[in-house]
Amino acid sequence: MAILKIARMGHPVLGRPARPVIYPAAPAIAHLIQDMLDTMIDAPGTGLAAPQVFVPLRVVIFFVSRQRARAEEQAGLSEAEAEAAPETEGADDLEVPLTVLINPVIEVLDATPQVGVEGCLSVPGLMGQVPRARRISYRGITHEGEIIEREAEGFHARVVQHECDHLDGILYPQRMTDMSTLKFSSELGKSYPEGDGLREFS
Ligand code: NI
Repeated sequence: MAILKIARMGHPVLGRPARPVIYPAAPAIAHLIQDMLDTMIDAPGTGLAAPQVFVPLRVVIFFVSRQRARAEEQAGLSEAEAEAAPETEGADDLEVPLTVLINPVIEVLDATPQVGVEGCLSVPGLMGQVPRARRISYRGITHEGEIIEREAEGFHARVVQHECDHLDGILYPQRMTDMSTLKFSSELGKSYPEGDGLREFS
């Protein structure tokens, strides 16, 4: 187990396109993914891209718990509040299993911009509102050779777009259209609903 140092905005590794992985089954890739998992869980984060740990390869991981998915759906509620709220139909469908994607490819199915709050482990302390495509499909392969092919919308689609942007050297502030919403999370209680945006991801 190794918890890796996380690159922060300004480091060149975050601003360059990452290289495709040629041998997804290579032991070094399995090792990298295990270290990324340890690092993401320790942070804690919702997702992590390899360039964030100074490795310029096209590898991302992410995970959205049921509690987190429900909190995002009921924007503004803390995870505890969301857990206590009445069950929403389909809430279980919002959970995203721990996913490893090597050489991911995204296709936009519905480009309608949906604005939501994002944070990033490489931009610590800040949060901002970012428009993302509402619905996407994505595919990639795992280090175990499994092909992942899914459709995603809402928060799930947001996380995937955020992580894959890291592979193209793009950080979320570059996607923002209203820079007045870029704020320190420690100040968010004043302008965002309680509990929202305090959880950094990816
Ligand atoms: Ni990020």
